Amino acid sequence: MAGSSLLTIDGLSKTAIVEILDHAETFAEVNTRAVRKVPTLKGKVVASLFFEESTRTRLSFETAAKRLSADVLSLAVASSSVKKGESLRDTIATIDALGIDAVVMRHASSGAAVQVSRFVPHVRVVNAGDGQHQHPTQGLLDAFTVRRVLAERHATTGRESGAELFSGLRVLIVGDVRHSRVARSDAQCYAALGATVRVCAPGTLLPDDLSGWPVEVSHDFEGSLAWADVVGLLRLQRERGTGAFVPTLREFTATHGLTWERATALSPTTLIMHPGPMNRGVEIDSRVTSLPNVLIERQVASGVPVRMSVLYLALAGTREDATDE
Ligand code: CP
Repeated sequence: MAGSSLLTIDGLSKTAIVEILDHAETFAEVNTRAVRKVPTLKGKVVASLFFEESTRTRLSFETAAKRLSADVLSLAVASSSVKKGESLRDTIATIDALGIDAVVMRHASSGAAVQVSRFVPHVRVVNAGDGQHQHPTQGLLDAFTVRRVLAERHATTGRESGAELFSGLRVLIVGDVRHSRVARSDAQCYAALGATVRVCAPGTLLPDDLSGWPVEVSHDFEGSLAWADVVGLLRLQRERGTGAFVPTLREFTATHGLTWERATALSPTTLIMHPGPMNRGVEIDSRVTSLPNVLIERQVASGVPVRMSVLYLALAGTREDATDE
């Protein structure tokens, strides 16, 4: 993806994904140094535009940009002219006029990042989540986290092992698949790396059309838990009206929640993941989060090196760099 925007995982080759993960390994090492900063993007300006709420993604992107020595313009949407009705197009044009090289953007509308990439084709756009469509860096950081754990088990580095660690890996994605941009990005990323991906959800929480998704579907949650090497839980997205798709939260938990009983019946090698924020007591029992095979904090920590890698690659090889050389 060198020199390109990152709008979606769809269509990214295995080679392109491995390149991002390998660069993330380099940046993970930077993050262990006493001075966690490199001059890689000195002079570049990254705009951080979150039109929808975020804790993990926003903070890790802004941390990533700063650790690469980029300048960060962070728009506080709630106190911006967006609240006076300024359009997305005018907002982007205004920020572009300040002089930016990249935009990291989250928006409630599916396709918003693609739209912005058309408004400002000279700016690299990194999709930090658009509606129910894509959350590409979540897919990448989840794959990075799994690759690191598997590499530790094989006493090697993820980079040495390449993507082969994913060959034959069985990944289960469970919960609110219908509303989840994480589900789509995770499924495409794991599948591109060679894993077998299965989704499991109440029928009402599956998309109406799964054609194009590189997944198999199961309605047998208990059997799928026993099948999986990796269990990726999804948040029930109540802000997208999920409540109307399940009779009660209690019933969802009873049929598809990772209860204490289900989690402790798993093999201790089964990896349990959740992108956050969690609905404790709904899709995951609070006690489960402390089990040693739960990777939730490692997922968050992976966000910084993976997003450093994405920003580095997006801004690498731009015309200005070529001129400098
Ligand atoms: N996983 C994730 O996107 O979290 P935030 O909404 O906090 O960014």
